[in-house]
Order: sequence, then structure tokens, then C-alpha cells
Amino acid sequence: MKFDTPAGRNPIDELKVVGKPTDRIDGPFKTTGRAQYAYDWYDPKSKAAYGYVIGATIAKGRINAMDLSAAKAAPGILAIVTAENAGPLDKGKLNAAKLLGGPEIEHYHQAIALVVAETFEQARAAAALVRVDYTETKGAFDLAAVKDTGKPEKLASAPSDTSIGDFEGAFSAAPIQLDATYTTPDHAHAMMEPHASIASWDGDSLTVWTSNQMIDWGTRDLALTLRMPKEKVRLISPFVGGGFGGKLFLRSEAVMAALGARAAKRPVKVALTRPLTFNNTVHRPATIQRIRLGATPDGTITAIGHESWSGNLPGGKPEAAVQQTRLLYAGANRMTQTRLAMLDLPEGNSMRAPGEAPGLMVLEIAMDEMAERIGIDPVEFRIRNDTQVDPEKPERRFSQRSLVECLRQGAAKFGWDKRIAKPGQVHEGRWLVGMGVASAFRNNINVKSGARVRLDDRGVVTVETDMTDIGTGSYTIIGQTAAEMMGLTLDKVVVRLGDSAFPVSSGSGGQFGANSSTSGVYAACVKLREAVARALGVNSDDAVFTDGYVRSGNRSVPLADAAKAGELVAEDTIEFGGDLSKTYQQSTFGAHFVEVGVDTSTAEIRVRRMLAVCAAGRILNPKSARSQVIGGMTMGVGAALMEELAVDTRRGFFVNHDLAGYEVPVHADIPHQEVVFLDETDPISSPMKAKGVGELGICGVAAAVANAVYNATGIRVRDYPVTLDKLIDQMPDAA
Ligand code: MOS
Repeated sequence: MKFDTPAGRNPIDELKVVGKPTDRIDGPFKTTGRAQYAYDWYDPKSKAAYGYVIGATIAKGRINAMDLSAAKAAPGILAIVTAENAGPLDKGKLNAAKLLGGPEIEHYHQAIALVVAETFEQARAAAALVRVDYTETKGAFDLAAVKDTGKPEKLASAPSDTSIGDFEGAFSAAPIQLDATYTTPDHAHAMMEPHASIASWDGDSLTVWTSNQMIDWGTRDLALTLRMPKEKVRLISPFVGGGFGGKLFLRSEAVMAALGARAAKRPVKVALTRPLTFNNTVHRPATIQRIRLGATPDGTITAIGHESWSGNLPGGKPEAAVQQTRLLYAGANRMTQTRLAMLDLPEGNSMRAPGEAPGLMVLEIAMDEMAERIGIDPVEFRIRNDTQVDPEKPERRFSQRSLVECLRQGAAKFGWDKRIAKPGQVHEGRWLVGMGVASAFRNNINVKSGARVRLDDRGVVTVETDMTDIGTGSYTIIGQTAAEMMGLTLDKVVVRLGDSAFPVSSGSGGQFGANSSTSGVYAACVKLREAVARALGVNSDDAVFTDGYVRSGNRSVPLADAAKAGELVAEDTIEFGGDLSKTYQQSTFGAHFVEVGVDTSTAEIRVRRMLAVCAAGRILNPKSARSQVIGGMTMGVGAALMEELAVDTRRGFFVNHDLAGYEVPVHADIPHQEVVFLDETDPISSPMKAKGVGELGICGVAAAVANAVYNATGIRVRDYPVTLDKLIDQMPDAA
């Protein structure tokens, strides 16, 4: 099905199942331990052996020799795979560095060997006996030091630089100006389930149970890497214990498991140990960002400029931190620039709301600073500079844009009128209390997505698609979609996901999964409804599917009857494009409000209240959507207050590579979180009239926290994370 005209009324609009706050249908599997994650699988044909990955201990250079003799003699050893004995390997399309390194080493903890043994402990013990002789060469590891060597580099689907009007002229002429530089650190996905795979060969066919967000990319890249036909590779990933972008791509453990299984002639299971995940895989790259704003005393932005610098390995992409600045606020004179410098740290790549998350961390502090300079309320300042068209291409309207509504509703609900603009005024016992606000913005992306649906003679509909559920609720919203389309209750729908044997879906990423994959299920169900109508001999145009029956004229037949003569199967793929995407800019919006307390003596920061108001088209399941948003808000608090990969700029690695050193928020750090969804539908987005929310939730949160800290203390921190050491010497009561 092609989606190229605005959606009209369709069966989803009945909202008997879709749009209802519904418990996850996979919840009982998870809470009773029956959901099999990658490392839990077993191959019934033979017992799996265990692989242990060895990571390089230099960041750049060459392996001169590897001494495997002691390891090979260790108990239980079945095989040791290295680049020398693995046979020829290529690189996946989406991998900047090789997933099995050697002799060249491209980054610290790049996988250089897999030790396979009968037990995990044997593999780990033998891995410790492998001796590697390296020649280390000098690398670039410090973004600040190499920043000025950065080159213009295109964003995923946009130019590196944009320029509208006369930015420099308007900025220098502006009566009120802000010119400030900010930094955001490298971030780790730190998902709960580490990267894990079990690989099993059957002749020249390979099956890998893995933990991956994008089944089709993974299948393609694994086949490319191993130089085999894609049809011979099957990826199975029905449950994913968090990804956040870190599992968008094929990673080393899947390749190593496949190579290990080939060498050991047994299925092999490999999980990256927690310390390996930080330097072996990918991370959100650090940025240095400069914002220049010019405005008139009435709060109208006349010039808006955003420059961003980030680093990456050759073949890696820049962090698209200027992305939202092209679309979020009006302003006649504008410029954005993206510069990419070469760094020999592990590969930087997508992490939840790549681009907007670090971009808004900075832009939304700058907006707060500018509002203060102008002497205007920061909510009002944002509202005054709203735009209903793409400010760079005014002929493109936003399909929906309710930023102002989000800000207004949020301000009213949060009690923003009680905020005292002058910082450092509110004392509550030992706490200084402040409030902060930030806009949330994330683009809505639609991705081609396919599904197959089956109707059996019990009236049960089974959905099959290679879509993944990375903890987001895909199972449930896909089930809700099929139930709505076929006039069933949710318990009459079975959802099967995460298998490359199923039709290719959008996969999970870029907050495109929910809207795209359910639209693919919608398309397949349209075909199934036609097949049902044919089987029952009714006209599909006036057939009504409801309560397990198909009604047409004065006939009413059980849906199951359509499959009496055999299962009905339909398959389709939704494709987006055409004029809709050219004429309309599709984005999601929100407003984050945060209250913090800062300890007057220790400068410890406690988040006290959080509110998000979101506008993201139809909300398919308010319960799982809320979970997505509060997860994003929690991650935003992490970005604001604690998350930072500490770079060893001499040796070139992330030092705090475990969850003791890389701090993320825990329950005790997070107060009550409130989420409001505006009641809207977007007929431009898809037949579901929905958009993404999974990344919107993190966008802007960190700035709202930083702005609240400023309001509480009067201390402006422009280098994330906002930790107490950056506050304590300037605290109002400091001696
Ligand atoms: Mo997302 S960072 O595209 O999983």
C-alpha cells in the first residue's frame, strides 16, 4: 500500500482497541521468566559452547603477534578465533570499524579474538592466557584538541550547513545578543541486556538468536561480513532488553558467535561482558556547540546560529546536533553548521534521539539565557517565536504543530506562575528550589514496513513481521492494530515478531517503529479483510468487521467462517512518500517542566517534580506511550546530572566502563513524573494518524533540569553533566 494522500476515515478510527491504555500482551511472559532473550535460547540439535571476546588493549596500532599456545592448552578449549584464522571478512554497510579487528587496531576494546570452550568460566580463564604483542601508534582522542580540524559533513538526510538571510549582519545588529559555547559528553546506551547472540550452523545456513533492533539490517550486514548470501542467514530476536540505538547495527558478538560456531562445529553463545559494551560497541558522541541568538527587546528572535563539532572514526557520522535548530523557532536570519573531526575513540553513533537530544541540551539552555537577558518569561519567549512553517523552507508547513499548546498547558498544570524569575530566591529548609522549562522536539520519520496476517478457523488472527519490541510495547500496539482492523478483541490476536523469516518491517529506531510498523499491519489487514469478504461472498466496501462478526447488509457471519476452507493469509507493505513528505514537515513536540532542589551546603541536586506535555499525533496505547516518555525523561535526568563517559585522552578509551562508574539514574533519583498527551491525530503521518513518542520524551529534559538548577542557584553550567563540583564554589552561601 502506498501512503501518499492524507488518511481519511478508516477502521482504526473506531478506537475500540487502539488508543486504549492496554497492558503489554508480553508482560506475563516477562514477569514469569518465559520470555526468551538471546542468551536464554538453546539449540535443540546440540549443546551450545561458550565464547569469550577478547578486546584490544590499545586504541590504535597493530598486533605484531598473538601467543595462543597457553590458552589452547587450557581445559575445555574448543577453538580460538582471530582475524588470522577466521578467513576473509568484509565490513557491514553500517559498521565504521571492523567487528573482528587485527592486525590493524582501530579502537580500544575492538574484538581481536573469541575463545570458545565448554563452559563460560573455561573460556574466560583461557582468554586471560592469550598474550598479545602490539605496536601502539599515536591517535587523536581529545575532541577539544582536534575540533578545529573538523570538516563539513552531511547529516543522515540533510546538508551539513544551512544559511538563510544574513545571519552575521542580523546578529551583530541585534540589540540583545547571546554568544555561548556549551559541551555535551560522550554517552553510553547502558541498556540492561548486554549485546548477546547464539549462533548455530546447519551446513552453510546460519541461524543467530540475537538482540537487535533492526532485523533486516542485521541480516544483511552479517551476510556481508561473512561473505554469504543473505538468504542463508536467519536472525531471530523476539525480545530485546533495551537498545536505545546501540543495537541498531550488527555488533561484534553476533559475528564472533558465528565464527566461533563455525570453528567449534557447535552452536556458540556470546554475550559481551558489561565492561566490553562501553568501548567495544558504539556510543553517543560528545559535542561542542556554539549558539548565537539575536533578538529585539520584545522577544523576537532576529538571528539564530548553531554550530556543532563532534568526532568519529573514519566512516563514522557527525552528531546531528543542529537538526532541531533548523525547525524549532522562527527567525529571519539563520545559520547552522556541522563539523566532524577524526577521533580514534570507539565509533560514535545513534543513541536515543540522536541529534535532537544533545542539540536541545544546548539550544534550550541558550533560550533560557536569552529570555533572561531580554527580561521575558522563558515560556513566553518560546511561544513568541513559534512558527507553523519550516523556517528554512516556508513553503513547507508542519503537518501538526502544537508546541504552543504544550507550553501553555504545561505551564498551567505545573504552576509555572509561581516561579520567581530572579534566581536563588526560594529557600525550603536546606534546599534552594528552582523551576526550569524546555521545548521538546523530535522529527517524525516514516519507514516502509511490511507484515503478514493469518486468519484461522477459530477466528484467531496471527501477525508476523520482523518488527522488534525493544521494551517499547510493539507487541501490544501491533496486536491492538490487528484487533481493531479485524473487529476482534485483543485476546484473539497472536503477534509474532523479530524473525528474519517474517516480512521486513521498519524495525525499531528513530521513534519511527510504532507508527510505521502498525501502518504495515494496517495495510496487511486491509488485504485480509478483502480476502475475508471474498471468502464470505460479501462486498468488502460495505462489510463491517465488529465483535468477531462480519456484517454486510442484513447478513452477519462469524469472522472464523471465512477460514473454514483453510487459513486465509494476506501480506502487504506500507510505503510512504510522494507529495506528502515534500509538502509537509512532520515533527513531534512537547514541553518539559522540572523542579529541582539544590542543597545549600553540598550543592547536591535533587529533581523534585517533572511534567511532560507531548503532542505526537494519535497515541496508540497511552499506557505504553507514557512508559516511553517517562523512560525518556529519566534518561534526560541522567544526561543532565550524571551521565558522562570519561575519556582517557592519552590512551584513548572510556575509563568508566561499567555501571559503577557510568552512572545512570535509579528509582531513588526520580520523583513523580507526569505525562500529558494532547488529544490530536495527524492524517498526514499514516493511516494510523500516529507519530513517534519514544525519543520525544528525552528531548529537552536535560536543559529543563539545568535551567531549574540555574533558577534555584543562579549558577549557569554550560558543560554537562551538571554535577555538584561545578556548583559548589559558587553556591550563594559558599564562604
Ligand atoms: Mo534509535 S537511537 O534510532 O534506536
